[in-house]
Amino acid sequence: MKNKILLNCIALVALAIPAGVQAQVNPMMPHLEKRGAATQLIVDGKPYLALAGETDNTASSDLALMDTVWPKVAKANLNTVLVGVGWNWVEPVEGKYDFSLVDGILSGARKNNLHVVLLWFGSWKNGLSSFAPAWVKADQQRFPRDLLTNGKSVEVLSTFSDNNLQADTRAYTAFMHHLRQVDSKQHTVIMIQLENEVGLIGDTRDHSAAANAAFAQPVPQQLMDYLQKNKATLWPDLLKLWETAGGKTSGTWTEVFGANPATDEIFMAWNYARYMNQLAKVGKDELPIPVFSNTWLVQPTDKLPGDYPSGCPEPLVIDIWKAGAPAIDINAPDVHLPNFSFWCSQFQRPNNPLFVPESSGDASGAANAVYCIGQYASIGYSPFGVNHVDTWGETRSAGGASAPMAVENVPLAKAYKLLADMKPLILDAQSKGTIGASWLDTQQKIQKEDITLGNYVIHVELQRDRRSQAVTSALGYAIAIEDGLDAFYVAGRNVQVTFSANTPGPQIIGLADAAKGKFVNGKWIRGRNVNGDDVVLDYNQSSAAANNQSGSGLMFGSDGPIIQWVKLYRYQ
Ligand code: DGJ
Repeated sequence: MKNKILLNCIALVALAIPAGVQAQVNPMMPHLEKRGAATQLIVDGKPYLALAGETDNTASSDLALMDTVWPKVAKANLNTVLVGVGWNWVEPVEGKYDFSLVDGILSGARKNNLHVVLLWFGSWKNGLSSFAPAWVKADQQRFPRDLLTNGKSVEVLSTFSDNNLQADTRAYTAFMHHLRQVDSKQHTVIMIQLENEVGLIGDTRDHSAAANAAFAQPVPQQLMDYLQKNKATLWPDLLKLWETAGGKTSGTWTEVFGANPATDEIFMAWNYARYMNQLAKVGKDELPIPVFSNTWLVQPTDKLPGDYPSGCPEPLVIDIWKAGAPAIDINAPDVHLPNFSFWCSQFQRPNNPLFVPESSGDASGAANAVYCIGQYASIGYSPFGVNHVDTWGETRSAGGASAPMAVENVPLAKAYKLLADMKPLILDAQSKGTIGASWLDTQQKIQKEDITLGNYVIHVELQRDRRSQAVTSALGYAIAIEDGLDAFYVAGRNVQVTFSANTPGPQIIGLADAAKGKFVNGKWIRGRNVNGDDVVLDYNQSSAAANNQSGSGLMFGSDGPIIQWVKLYRYQ
């Protein structure tokens, strides 16, 4: 009882301290932290790997539906769920807030030991303002919209209106204030996604009178200063635009970046960034947890900004976002395109840790999850539409829907189980830089990919038939973690793995010892030995030796992923 009173007192004190100050005094608050080679998400004082999934946009407005979703996703080994919170759900009448849905979400998540990331569908959702309350939508005079070159307006609140910004700011502040009241001790909410895939669809930029006036002004000094200070690390295409236009240190938008559609996109990016920076800042004053944006990526058929949301944090304009919205911690990609590894490489930057809030959830999604966490030190992975996780089989069609199956058997659930079991090892290796992964996909014509770690190069290939050498699967992945100088934990599915020397000395690598096993509470439990038919990939010893190969390696079939441990030795 005494303890309970004491705890309550601490909670009261915590609530009495301004939230911004709490961030400094409360290391238990979810935050991002640079730990060696990686920036990691810290939850309850410990590094966290978000094995996540995002529900359909409106699923979270139906708490009865969510009652069926929470246990299902927990069974699929998720530890985090991304759920939307619509501005119109919490402020249906101006100034009157109703957070019962938010409370219901927290209570459902807690009952199932899950964390959540709340997605603030405020001024924009997929570029549009569809989640703005009806009282905002209905008053275009007070809440102005973007104007297209054809003179028509669209249902997109303009970034150039202070009324828009203030209305969203008030609602978002109330929302974050509420979270502070109900969650500053428990940290069920570990991050916020601010808005959703912002940007103007339908034109390269807003052509309202306010936007035109801003476009005719000089580029703000704050942006020019940032570009000059960070010139050495600017995204090459942005630097090229600036330099092609003469590399000026001041001037109007067209003078600095040239008279082209990309300049409109840069201008929009800056204005979205400034708007959202204000929201992120006031939100953090209430509850200082990490905030990210998500990006609708340019599609292969898109020609101009406006075909995709103009101003969204695409690779070209991430620097503009970093300059304009320092309160947003991560600009994250929604990877609904097939070339997953390419998009990871575009978004993981020294000033931008990777998180993938939307992607696929079928077998290719399982591969994505392992890959981004192993190769790009991603803080997590989150396929879209996770309320359908029990239909996520092997299929690679959009959405990955197949007949419902036992949820613990879907490829994603199995991959998440592996990642959950290996979590302490993975997080430690991310910070030491002793981890790598491969992602193989015949559709992307990627059948082999090397991981270089310490003294060795680990060759990962799609599994082949031993006799015919024909590739036997279309999709595979592996993750490798150093265990001292000459040993590795390797986990994967549908791949075979061989080794080469990465340092001088004897160049042929043999297997000194290998075993299957599993991690239980972070401890390796060695299982069956791996040898003989388990490891021989090629009996043609002379050709293997000529290629500095032993002919042996590790094999990972389709029933996995499984983990193996291997100790290597060298000969010549
Ligand atoms: C991307 C959006 O961000 C999501 O909210 C959702 O609408 C998906 N597209 C649908 O695939």
